Amino acid sequence: MAQQAFVTLATNDSYARGAMVLGKSLRNHKTSKKLVVLIGPHVSDQARAVLHKIFDEVRLVNVLDSGDTAHLAMMKRPDLGVTFTKLHCWTLTHYSKCVFMDADTLVVSNIDELFDREERSAAPDPGWPDCFNSGVFMFRPSNETYGKLLQYCTEHGSFDGGDQGVLNGFFSDWATADINKHLPFIYNMSSIAIYTYLPAFKQYGANAKVVHFLGQMKPWSYTYNPTQRGVRGDAQASSQPGLLLQWWALYSAEVVPMLIREYGDQPFNSGCEVRPKHTEQENNHPLVSSAERKQRWEQGQADYMGIDSFDNIQKKLDVFLK
Ligand code: UDP
Ligand code: GLC
Ligand code: MN
Repeated sequence: MAQQAFVTLATNDSYARGAMVLGKSLRNHKTSKKLVVLIGPHVSDQARAVLHKIFDEVRLVNVLDSGDTAHLAMMKRPDLGVTFTKLHCWTLTHYSKCVFMDADTLVVSNIDELFDREERSAAPDPGWPDCFNSGVFMFRPSNETYGKLLQYCTEHGSFDGGDQGVLNGFFSDWATADINKHLPFIYNMSSIAIYTYLPAFKQYGANAKVVHFLGQMKPWSYTYNPTQRGVRGDAQASSQPGLLLQWWALYSAEVVPMLIREYGDQPFNSGCEVRPKHTEQENNHPLVSSAERKQRWEQGQADYMGIDSFDNIQKKLDVFLK
């Protein structure tokens, strides 16, 4: 029987970091499938070396760019023209079936059962649920489909300037043709869902098998403090620090050491703070998510001398009472 594979894409070192975490998360959850990463020529030698250690196949492809600035501007994502490069995945004809996963996804449970599904099974897009989100989809590699997709791009372009617009245009009956090709949202749970439908996230979020950090801010856009196990930046204000921390925990523990080995003495930006400096303000607002703080509190590990001090509790009570 021909082999089956998970496939991702990275055209640069930032997305390569995402791919490394995704690959590690698939391995940690004991996938029996092959792992493939498509890379563009701009991915550095060091990143390639790490990818080789995590993936079974690292395939260099030429970058396809829609160049469709008008449609990309509507999404406020001028950077996504290169997602046309994703279409190369159909050329992996030495595999019978594949699941494509964006490099900004994280697997939190084994998902090999996805291979029981058929081509273009995908989950709804949280922004327009009659479209499928192209961050996770099952497909059958075929040079014929690849050719037709390229032809479709030339003739019709993409309504969003990226691959998702092309794929939804090409496989246009997804919404209505076959309910078996609708993947449950837990296979592509976009972090956006947390603030658009918080009660549903509270009800079902714990069942998520794949988290998708969809949108402009990616996990690697933040800075992580390994000592305090906290993410710095807008994450403090965002509503999914727990998921971000999960990504960072894996990246800092398993990927950064591999990068350090490859870079040797050469400096590189891992995104982790090397020497954490504790300013007074940070001590008042430690880099811990409220979910993690709650968990620590429930385990009897309250920070009595810091954020959980009696004074702070009193202040919180005063706010509520007002
Ligand atoms: N991608 C890439 N380089 C880029 C932009 C995107 O390799 O400069 C790939 C990467 O696999 C990424 C996917 O294309 O996950 C889709 O882009 P992104 O995840 O940023 O889109 P979003 O899910 O936020 O709409
Ligand atoms: C989407 C998808 C992403 C795709 C992008 C551009 O939001 O999550 O995978 O590349 O749109 O079409
Ligand atoms: Mn994505």
